Amino acid sequence: MGDYLRRFWIPALCSDEIAEPDSPPVRVKILNEELVAFRDTNGDVGLLDNYCPHRRASLFFGRNEECGLRCVYHGWKFDVNGECVDMPSEPSESNFKDKVKIKSYPARDWGGFIWAYMGPVEHQPDLPEVGWAMVPDSHRKVSRRLQENNYVQGIEGGIDSSHVSFLHSGLTPYQRDHPEARPVRRGTMQPTAMIGDSAPRFVVQDTNYGFVYGANRDAENDEYYWRITPFMMPFFTIIPGSIGNPDDLTYSGHGWIPADDENCWMFTYSWNASRPLNKGENHPASDLELEPRTLRATINKDNDYGIDREMQRNVNFTGIANGSVQDAGIQEGMGAICDRTKEHLGTSDSAIINLRRIYLRGAREIMEGGDPFTPEKGSDYRLRSVSLLQDRGISFNDTVPAVINTASVIATERS
Ligand code: FES
Ligand SMILES: [Fe+2]
Repeated sequence: MGDYLRRFWIPALCSDEIAEPDSPPVRVKILNEELVAFRDTNGDVGLLDNYCPHRRASLFFGRNEECGLRCVYHGWKFDVNGECVDMPSEPSESNFKDKVKIKSYPARDWGGFIWAYMGPVEHQPDLPEVGWAMVPDSHRKVSRRLQENNYVQGIEGGIDSSHVSFLHSGLTPYQRDHPEARPVRRGTMQPTAMIGDSAPRFVVQDTNYGFVYGANRDAENDEYYWRITPFMMPFFTIIPGSIGNPDDLTYSGHGWIPADDENCWMFTYSWNASRPLNKGENHPASDLELEPRTLRATINKDNDYGIDREMQRNVNFTGIANGSVQDAGIQEGMGAICDRTKEHLGTSDSAIINLRRIYLRGAREIMEGGDPFTPEKGSDYRLRSVSLLQDRGISFNDTVPAVINTASVIATERS
C-alpha cells in the first residue's frame, strides 16, 4: 500500500513550521521514514533522511546555514537536493564528498503545507490544486497533529457521514428532558430539514479524483436534503458546510497521512474562496492545544479525552467538548489497527466500503507491476462539498458536477 501512496504528493508538515529561511530543521515521520525538513537561505525547502550518511548522526541537531544543513557531528553539509556540498573532516584534495549523497525527496510549499513526493520520478504527478491551495494565505488556516491510530481509521472516520448525527450532536434542554427527542430517535439535529428522516439513502460513485458520495433525506416541499462530499485520493475529505451560496461558504476537511502503521498525522484545512477567514471560522481541530514535541493533543487517550459524564447527561452526546477530539477518541479507541474482521457494515457505510475497494485495487495493481489509478491532472482536485435542498426529481448524477467542481469558478476569478 505504501508503494501506491508514493504515487501521490503527500503533506509532510505545515509551512509555518519552517517559516523562515535558515530556521531550525523539523523532524518529520511519514510512510515510516524518519526525515528532517528545513528551509534554506534562498527559501527552498529540503526534505532529507534524518540520518547523516557519514556516521548516522541525526540531522535534527543540524545547523541550517548558508544554503544547506550541516551535521553537527563532523560538519558534513547537504543542500535541499541531498548533495553533499561540504566535507570538512576529509582532506581538501579528497573528492569523497562528490560521491556521497543523502536521501532526499522533492518538496513543495503549497497551500500552507510542505508536500513531499516519495515515489518514482517518472510517475511524479502535478501538485493537487486543492481548494485551500488556490486562495491567498489570509483565506485559509491549516494545522496538523498526531493521532495514535492507523491512517485508514482516520480517513474512514472522515467519510463516515452518518456518525455526525450522533457523535457530534448536542442536546438541547428539551432533548435533555425528553429522551424520545434525542438524536438516536430523530436522526441528525441539523438542519431542520433532516429531522424526521433518520434513514438517509446513500449514493457512491467513482470519479476522476477518487469518489463522491452523497446522502439524501426527505425534506419538505417535495425536496431532498443532500449532503455531498468528494473523497480526493489518497487522503482528503471536505466536510459539507451549511446550506448557502457555495461560492461564499467556508469549507474544512482533513487528510490522514501515515506516520507509521500505528500512528498518523491529521492535517486540517479550512478555506474561503472569496474572502479572508474570520477569527474562529476554522475547523476546531486547528484550535487544539498540542504537546510541543510530539504534536499530540494535550486532551488525548491518556486523560480519556476529558470526558465529562455530567456534560454527557446535559449538554452533548459524548461528554467530550471538541468535535475533533470526539472523532479522535473514537478512531483511536478502536485500537491502533482496527480488527475489521469483526465489523458489521451497513448501508450507511458504503463510502467506507468503496474506499477499501479503491485502496485494495491500487495496492494489488502496484504489486502486479501495473499502473494504479491516480488523478490525471492537478485541476482534478478543484472541488468542494455541498449541502443543499433540491427537487426530488433531480438525480445525484445531475447534482454533483454542478455543485462540487470549482474549476470553472476559480478559472474565472483568476483570468
Ligand atoms: S555523522 Fe554527520 S558528519 Fe559525521
Ligand atoms: Fe466526525
